[in-house]
Amino acid sequence: MNTIVVTGGAGFIGSNLVEELLFLGNRVICLDNFSTGKRENILPYLDNSHFTLIEGDIRNMDDCRKAVDGADYVLHEAALGSVPRSIKDPITTNEVNVSGFLNILVASRDAKVKRFIYAASSSTYGDSPSLPKVEEVIGKPLSPYAITKYVNELYADIFAKTYGMECIGLRYFNVFGRRQDPNGAYAAVIPLFVKKLMNHESPVINGDGEYSRDFTYIDNVIRMNLRAIETTNPQAVNQVYNTAYGERTTLNQLVAYLKEYLGELDPDILKIKTIYGANRAGDIPHSLANIDKAKQLLAYNPKYNVRDGLKQAVQWYWKNL
Ligand SMILES: NC(=O)c1ccc[n+]([C@@H]2O[C@H](COP(=O)([O-])OP(=O)(O)OC[C@H]3O[C@@H](n4cnc5c(N)ncnc54)[C@H](O)[C@@H]3O)[C@@H](O)[C@H]2O)c1
Repeated sequence: MNTIVVTGGAGFIGSNLVEELLFLGNRVICLDNFSTGKRENILPYLDNSHFTLIEGDIRNMDDCRKAVDGADYVLHEAALGSVPRSIKDPITTNEVNVSGFLNILVASRDAKVKRFIYAASSSTYGDSPSLPKVEEVIGKPLSPYAITKYVNELYADIFAKTYGMECIGLRYFNVFGRRQDPNGAYAAVIPLFVKKLMNHESPVINGDGEYSRDFTYIDNVIRMNLRAIETTNPQAVNQVYNTAYGERTTLNQLVAYLKEYLGELDPDILKIKTIYGANRAGDIPHSLANIDKAKQLLAYNPKYNVRDGLKQAVQWYWKNL
């Protein structure tokens, strides 16, 4: 049985990882300060004897040391997400995403964990115009958030080289699925649009709707994290990987899919019109991952394309919103 720390385990991606790791028979320690995560996300596990919640902050070194003490693996998900949030408050984003990252990395090094796996981001591709994105070709960051996620990669690389740690960075591409929060100023586009449509309100697209993203269903992301834990291929460690499906969907297509799936549950949703607004600062026009590296080195094979993932997500929101 492995002991696995999930920082940010009360958040969207973290709580899905907690659920799967417990299901697979691991002992799981969740470190979270509930700044964007929710207690209800981990409520089902609180009385599981294999689950420990440490309510604490990655900006506090003692909390980090307490969480990783005796751990085999760390999945570091805790961060302040959202490009607009980082533009509004770059200092807090940096404190959590850079200083907090460094704390948990140092604590993991000192606790001699077997491997440190962390949430990196497709935002690291910044202004690079090349498509699809391959791991080795990045541009300049377009937001404070993107800087912090790139700094994470630089630190992980240096810790691998300097202290012999095993690190793997997973550059997530627009993840979506059950438990992603539709509320608040910094909600991600899919839960936001699902909520709007369910309330019979118009979704607002920033720009003309032809910006595109490699929307990635949560189960593909869980699979990548498991592969990063399990791999025994020495060439697979101390790398960063695109974590995506490898398909591009425009915002206009996305709204059409959501209307189609929600329209099966409530036909009035088919009549809702989309509103178009201005482009948002810091947004990259197109994002599409080349996932060959993960396929070759991690034997990653994503199961859910965007349509299959959206069908699952819509069902979940329909029952839970
Ligand atoms: N969702 C995406 O599409 C996406 C894309 C790229 C990268 N990521 C990265 O994946 C990770 C998880 O994202 P998510 O979408 O699940 O976001 P989320 O906001 O749902 O989860 C983040 C979790 O971290 C916790 N947290 C924040 N600050 C903390 C602190 N100082 N100490 C302890 N816990 C803290 C929050 O309470 C929350 O539970 C983040 O690192 C994010 O940057 C996400």
